[in-house]
Amino acid sequence: MTRRSALAFSADQSAGQALSALRHELAANQISGAALEARCLVEAVCGFDRARLVSQAHHPLGMAAPRLAALAARRLAGEPLARLLGAREFWGLAFSLSSTTLVPRPETETLVEVVLRHCEETRGRKHPWRLLDLGTGSGCIGISLLTELPRATLLGIDRSADALLTAKANAREHGVAGRASFVVGDWASPIRASFDLVAANPPYVAAGEIAGLAVEVRDHDPRLALDGGTDGLDSYRIIAKDLPRLLAEEGRVFLEIGAGQRDAVRALLEAFDLASFSYHTDLGAMVRVVAASRSR
Ligand SMILES: C[S@@+](CC[C@H](N)C(=O)[O-])C[C@H]1O[C@@H](n2cnc3c(N)ncnc32)[C@H](O)[C@@H]1O
Repeated sequence: MTRRSALAFSADQSAGQALSALRHELAANQISGAALEARCLVEAVCGFDRARLVSQAHHPLGMAAPRLAALAARRLAGEPLARLLGAREFWGLAFSLSSTTLVPRPETETLVEVVLRHCEETRGRKHPWRLLDLGTGSGCIGISLLTELPRATLLGIDRSADALLTAKANAREHGVAGRASFVVGDWASPIRASFDLVAANPPYVAAGEIAGLAVEVRDHDPRLALDGGTDGLDSYRIIAKDLPRLLAEEGRVFLEIGAGQRDAVRALLEAFDLASFSYHTDLGAMVRVVAASRSR
């Protein structure tokens, strides 16, 4: 649905009045989380943090008024808040975004959690883990893991060179650039090394379903990050065949999946001799991660 707004802001309007008008308009346009989104936008244009917005609610918008009107119009036309702000929080860290990176999703934190649990239950967080993040995008999976695994090293691969510029900036921002490398590639084709941990959140939407996605996703996430081919499984097919050479002796792969893809992904991995499967659910009780190891 494309929403419409007659919302205008003036320089002498206070930040508090603008916040209230924007919250009302977003809610009237069925944007869930309207109060939080309105606050984030007013804070961004005024350069305020949360406390300052409360204490200086009477502060006039001034030069920020036209910018707020422009952002409100874009939000009401379906552009997600994270795109307007150019950043999204993931694993408690702020990740910069560009038009070529997917907005990190909260459910992908399940993948990070499962990898960390595996590390703790096997060789411990301080092991020098060798981590491969296939389709790294903003780098949110690999970089979050580096912040938790102090001796780990990361290779992040993506088909989009532009996305990797954002991933590199995020690695610098979070103080892990010295342990992270990023390489442009078509999945694992440029890689000759093997890894203890292989993580991937590949595109898994069936091509025919993309037109029916919410406008925030369909029109604003990059198609390369969404399109999983006719049945949504194309990326898993390609990744599966490379796993026997990518996984070190004790290595384990962790794949995010879409709804209902568990058995099909397992079958693809079994065809390349992967075993010791485990499944992990997200907060909505949906199986989100399939993990497996090389059979012995
Ligand atoms: C669903 S997004 C995941 C991004 C990020 N890892 C995350 O979880 O937010 C899939 C990523 O795979 C990348 N990708 C798509 N096709 C690829 C390919 N053939 N080789 C490498 N990366 C690819 C996309 O550019 C995108 O960054």
